[in-house]
Amino acid sequence: MNILIIYAHPSNKSFTYKVLQTLVKALQMGNHQVEISDLYKMEFQSDMTEEEYEREGFAKMELPLSEDVIAEHRKIERADCIVFLYPVWWSDCPAKMKGWFDRVYSVGYAYGYDHDGEKVMKMKRIKLGLVICTAGHPNNFLKETGIAESMRNVMLDDRLGVRFEKKEMIILGGTLELEKVANSHLEKIMNLGINMYKFYNTLIVDNKDFYDV
Ligand SMILES: Cc1cc2nc3c(=O)[nH]c(=O)nc-3n(C[C@H](O)[C@H](O)[C@H](O)COP(=O)(O)O)c2cc1C
Repeated sequence: MNILIIYAHPSNKSFTYKVLQTLVKALQMGNHQVEISDLYKMEFQSDMTEEEYEREGFAKMELPLSEDVIAEHRKIERADCIVFLYPVWWSDCPAKMKGWFDRVYSVGYAYGYDHDGEKVMKMKRIKLGLVICTAGHPNNFLKETGIAESMRNVMLDDRLGVRFEKKEMIILGGTLELEKVANSHLEKIMNLGINMYKFYNTLIVDNKDFYDV
């Protein structure tokens, strides 16, 4: 598979970076092609400009798109699978990644309607959308408080939405006590990367097993 990883973490000293390294290694072992949008490293612009809002807010699809947005569209068009990898910050992805959705999911590309009310969506339907996030709180806390469900609703149901055939969210929780969870999380990611086809084929939508550490 051609796998695009949208990655957002500012530090290579982070556990999330270890997850990235493990995932890339495992995917390469499984003979997958990997492309990475490392949003901090690229200094990806996450704020929408006033000019961009003119296009987005008023659905003026005839206005041009920014070069960096077009570059991300090209990566999306090459991908069979997109992995969104990030640390949970205030119960969501970092602002850098939120800005990726704000700008890259442009009107006429990821959503929108023409003058006759017909849906306009140039973005191809991606086979698999995978959200992998690390979290300080343990998975059972996130589950009991409803935060896991709300993160899942926002990421899978809204942001990935109908643009992906199959979707899953994997929460690697409990990182405040990293020594207790690091090995099992990295092992899980290694197995996932090596067995990506199997994972894709057997994926059941809303498989709650992946909440569990
Ligand atoms: C600004 C900030 C906000 C955070 N918010 C949350 C949160 O809302 N829920 C949670 O479980 N963990 C939260 N954490 C903890 C991170 O999710 C945790 O540090 C990360 O998953 C793993 O660490 P890493 O930065 O080494 O990759 C937060 C951490 C930071 C720095």
